Amino acid sequence: LPIAVLVSGSGSNLQSIIDRIEEGVLDAEIKLIVSNKARAYGIERAKKHGIPYKVLLHTDFRSREDFDSALVECITDAGVGEDGLVVMAGFMRIVTSVFLGAFENRVINIHPALLPSFPGVHGQADAADYGVKISGCTVHFVDEQMDHGPVIVQGAVPCQAGEDGDVLGPRILKLEHRVLPQAIQWFGEGRLKIEGRHVELRVAGR
Ligand code: GRF
Repeated sequence: LPIAVLVSGSGSNLQSIIDRIEEGVLDAEIKLIVSNKARAYGIERAKKHGIPYKVLLHTDFRSREDFDSALVECITDAGVGEDGLVVMAGFMRIVTSVFLGAFENRVINIHPALLPSFPGVHGQADAADYGVKISGCTVHFVDEQMDHGPVIVQGAVPCQAGEDGDVLGPRILKLEHRVLPQAIQWFGEGRLKIEGRHVELRVAGR
């Protein structure tokens, strides 16, 4: 499965994908890593593993649509087309129909909360501050709203009184590193079928 991974930050989710591929348990090839931040540590991970990467600064573009067209171009040029998948792994941008139209039902995102609760950039802290007893992470297909779209898989972690986002965040992140590669593997096996708002996980080989 040819994939492109989009990052904005440390790229620990990217690392989990790289590791699973290197271990031979994720049947995918990262054709390109794109960062919209010049100093994202994800770029260092790309270099270390010899994976092609590109820094595309959104501030260099006049509109979201212009940025998205450039993004589409570099991803398709890298060989991620109709048979591929785009993975947002800590990519802090909302994409437009220009991007989603080019990769229909082929863009997934990971969010550090149980959607539809606590979307946004502080999902872990928001859940902890609210006082929930369970939080977690969500891998979902991407639509034009932030942290929104058909849910592929969720993982849950317990949350106790007195724990804040700093305590909960790493616990969730550890789980993210398990579910994101799993979702990619299912996609590559052709097992994810979108039925309206629902994603069905089909039995392998059927
Ligand atoms: C993760 O918590 C992800 O769910 C969120 O941003 C964080 C990125 O972490 N969208 P990393 O860059 O993968 O380490």
